[in-house]
Amino acid sequence: MIHYADLGFSNTRKMFEDAMKNGYAVPAYNFNNMEQLQAIITACTMSQSPVILQVSKGARNYANQTLLRWMGQGAVELMKEIADENNLKEIPIAMHLDHGDSFELCKSCVDMGFSSVMIDGSHLTYDENVELTRRVVEYAHKYDVTVEGELGVLAGIEDDVKAEEHTYTNPDNVEDFVKKTGVDSLAIAIGTSHGAYKFKIKDGEQPPPLRFDILEEVEKRIPGFPIVLHGASSVLQEYVKTINKYGGNLEGAVGVSEDQLRKAAKSAVCKINIDSDGRLVMTAKVREILWNKPEEFDPRKYLGPARDELVKMYERKNRDVLGSAFRV
Ligand code: G3H
Ligand code: 13P
Ligand code: ZN
Repeated sequence: MIHYADLGFSNTRKMFEDAMKNGYAVPAYNFNNMEQLQAIITACTMSQSPVILQVSKGARNYANQTLLRWMGQGAVELMKEIADENNLKEIPIAMHLDHGDSFELCKSCVDMGFSSVMIDGSHLTYDENVELTRRVVEYAHKYDVTVEGELGVLAGIEDDVKAEEHTYTNPDNVEDFVKKTGVDSLAIAIGTSHGAYKFKIKDGEQPPPLRFDILEEVEKRIPGFPIVLHGASSVLQEYVKTINKYGGNLEGAVGVSEDQLRKAAKSAVCKINIDSDGRLVMTAKVREILWNKPEEFDPRKYLGPARDELVKMYERKNRDVLGSAFRV
């Protein structure tokens, strides 16, 4: 058993208290490799934003759960170095399991030093979801690890589970769910979805607005309780265009507008999950470089610039969209 505090991680409790009080959202960025992690840490330290490092099932399969946790530990040291070199404050970093699907997995993450876990029972029946989430909370809270639950189903691929349709969160359930499970935050479905194809719209049309009416109703039922938004990438069109220009094919890729996210960040939404935007930035830069320099074969020459571009994107998100910059 390794406790997260000994590794320099923070749980999400204080992060969400501050986000709620000051009307911003903490970024939760997924990482699968060194360059993504370096970019997240550099951007969040330089913009003085708290950050939640997320490890998904796909990431665990790709890079190994134990290695990812050690990389997270290394990230704390990197953050201290960047802060020191730039006369900046150290930032709080949470190491978070994204979309945990079993008690055993959540327990193993708690035991190896994660400071926060998500148990995603949203595909189960309501009662099963309550029971599974309650068990995870009971275990995690013994070690002061914070737990995120989910009610409602997002369309798109949530790890292995592919849902064709949204099931919006029913506000009638949230109070009971929070009370029975003891979760620290709640992910809700208000029209976002995972991946790069969030809405089916015609050229020139705007994506439909999120269901802020559901969010408002949820806020009324559980006032001051931290809400989480999954599937919150904006699918930035400048990168989609670059990908398509240099041999890719992402026709019709569209995400949540940043205006909608700005609005959400000012509400009880305290955590905003972004993965796809990072993937698009990396792919765009790598495609551009390899297209223009076919003789290049040193990964540092294309992953390095991709990492620099990621830093810019994350800093801008923190500053202009989530409002998490300069909060530490
Ligand atoms: O929850 C969705 C994340 O974007 C994770 O996706 O399992 O392919 O890493 P992944
Ligand atoms: P995106 O696919 O919109 O980046 O969502 C990421 C996410 O919700 C991770 O849990
Ligand atoms: Zn998600």
